Amino acid sequence: MTFQALVARASEGSSYTVALETLDDGALPREGNVTIDVAYSSLNYKDALAVTARGRIIRRFPMILGIDLAGTVTASDDDCYKPGDRVVGMAQGLGETDWGGYTQRERVQANALVPLPDAISFEQAMQIGTAGFTAMLCVLALEQAGVEPSERELVVTGAAGGVGSLAVMLLAKRGHRVAASTGRPELESYLRDLGATSIVSRDELAKAGGPLQSERWAGGVDTVGGQTLTTLFAQTAYEGAIACCGMAGGHELHTTVWPLILRNVSLLGVSSIHTAFPKRVAAWSRLASDLDFAKLAELSRTEPLSRIRELAEELLANRVRGRIVIDVNA
Ligand SMILES: NC(=O)c1ccc[n+]([C@@H]2O[C@H](COP(=O)([O-])OP(=O)(O)OC[C@H]3O[C@@H](n4cnc5c(N)ncnc54)[C@H](OP(=O)(O)O)[C@@H]3O)[C@@H](O)[C@H]2O)c1
Repeated sequence: MTFQALVARASEGSSYTVALETLDDGALPREGNVTIDVAYSSLNYKDALAVTARGRIIRRFPMILGIDLAGTVTASDDDCYKPGDRVVGMAQGLGETDWGGYTQRERVQANALVPLPDAISFEQAMQIGTAGFTAMLCVLALEQAGVEPSERELVVTGAAGGVGSLAVMLLAKRGHRVAASTGRPELESYLRDLGATSIVSRDELAKAGGPLQSERWAGGVDTVGGQTLTTLFAQTAYEGAIACCGMAGGHELHTTVWPLILRNVSLLGVSSIHTAFPKRVAAWSRLASDLDFAKLAELSRTEPLSRIRELAEELLANRVRGRIVIDVNA
């Protein structure tokens, strides 16, 4: 049987080409042990970098792109999965070292998968995607650090993006007051609808200031990095915590030890790439119970795989709000 997939192939020099191809089942990776009919994938920041050949995301060629997938198991050599099971796969090397989700059929290693909770459809799973899963990991990290709802706001940076939108929603649902930091003031009503209690301009947090400023935030979720994270760190109140997961504004971090040693502030690293299986299951279970799926649908749109290149450019130009689901069968 044949299927369509978005394939990156190495070309002259260090670059590569990306094109929709028709492949045969015989091309599926032999090292995989679970075969899946993919229903949907999604578009994340990392996918946009890979599709447009910016950033070193792909580690071997040829590569089927896409770090997320949701679909039905059609064959399995692994005891944990059987034909008919509904699964979600994300990160764990998909689209980087192992073939990913921009395809109608895929064979992956079982450890890249998690059973999809019954309450979540394939399309909803990809409305969440790596972005929403990472937002949930940030919420769990803040909870583990002891951050509880209070009068003081938590701040979410890059709030209108995928991770940011889901983080605002999830934190607000848990009773936190949430300041949404954005470079798009025109999206204020969108962010307030997700549960933001105030809006902070992106520029305000991107200004350099002292290493220890007035206590402003109970903590936050940072998707931007660079000077923005430096500012957040300097403005976080005593015993606050910041979950740091992104670098949409820069990967550097210039700061001091003052917030750590004078205010007990915690800077928490969050990576979705190799999350242990029990934590992935716990995060999906919390997503199933905490998310407002009607709102999730409103912040998402579904697009065909054939539009992936222009969608990736849109995302990198900061013209995407919320989440994009990719229909690989459209
Ligand atoms: N650690 C992990 O496992 C993990 C997982 C997923 C994503 N990430 C990272 O998290 C970040 C966000 O990912 P995403 O999928 O949510 O991407 P996204 O949908 O493109 O959102 C990024 C948001 O960042 C803001 N932004 C964009 N360019 C900026 C700039 N130059 N300066 C300041 N803010 C800027 C924008 O928010 P506003 O328009 O509201 O300003 C944008 O919507 C990326 O760096 C991504 O690599 C990490």
